[in-house]
Amino acid sequence: MAASDAPIGLFDSGLGGLSVLREVRTALPAEHLLYYADSAFCPYGARPPSEIRARCQLIAAALLDRGAKALIVACNTASSVALAQLRQVTGVPVVGLVPAVKPAVALSRAGRVAVLATPRTADGALLGSVVAAHAGGAEVTILPAPGLADLVESGQTAGPAVEALLRRLLEAPLRSGVDTVVLGCTHYPFVRPVVEAVVGPRVAVIDSGEAIARRTASVLADQGGLRSGTTPGHLALFTSGVPATVGAVASTLLGESVRPSFLPL
Ligand code: DGL
Repeated sequence: MAASDAPIGLFDSGLGGLSVLREVRTALPAEHLLYYADSAFCPYGARPPSEIRARCQLIAAALLDRGAKALIVACNTASSVALAQLRQVTGVPVVGLVPAVKPAVALSRAGRVAVLATPRTADGALLGSVVAAHAGGAEVTILPAPGLADLVESGQTAGPAVEALLRRLLEAPLRSGVDTVVLGCTHYPFVRPVVEAVVGPRVAVIDSGEAIARRTASVLADQGGLRSGTTPGHLALFTSGVPATVGAVASTLLGESVRPSFLPL
């Protein structure tokens, strides 16, 4: 097999990273993809950084064992605590996520941006440094959203619980004139329609998925590592959780039937 035919490995604490996978498939349809959902340990947001780092190392090793030519840490929480360490030990390109603060600040007319994130990302040094580097004169409000990723993980992407949580979180920022909302967790693009309904048409809602797909494409292109040809790539899903449960939610989120394999790590 040519090195460029090797798969790209993606992972998340659970199924949120499928929002990134969706964008990677759109940008790079010929690539084979491996996706690991660490569902038995989801959410990462409530776990200590040392445990998240240990999980990331195990998952990265499992994806590299299966031939991954690049890794995408499709989780803001994992990226914020484990990215630097993964880059040191893997020997393949590792693309990580940070909430899209920079483009949000550029987009905001009022100079008021709100970032929805998991409690761990909200507290993390990485988000703090991204805000310090890119806020400029804008006011960037971080909104920890405990429970939102869990709702998506259980397959709830709409309905009263999701709407009530988002209304409660966004009410005050909207009153203070926020005109741009960043979805700072890869689970959140799956509730984007509810966020958009809550904030209304004058407020922009942005996430990092497309930018990450573009970044992955350019990193692989620089190395001559893109898969050539027009045949669509395969997708293989693995999980530490219960495959039937994870598969049912993953199928709903992706809009196609997928069957994860059980891979405890
Ligand atoms: N999807 C994840 C993120 O982007 C994480 C949710 C969690 O496990 O806390 O942050």
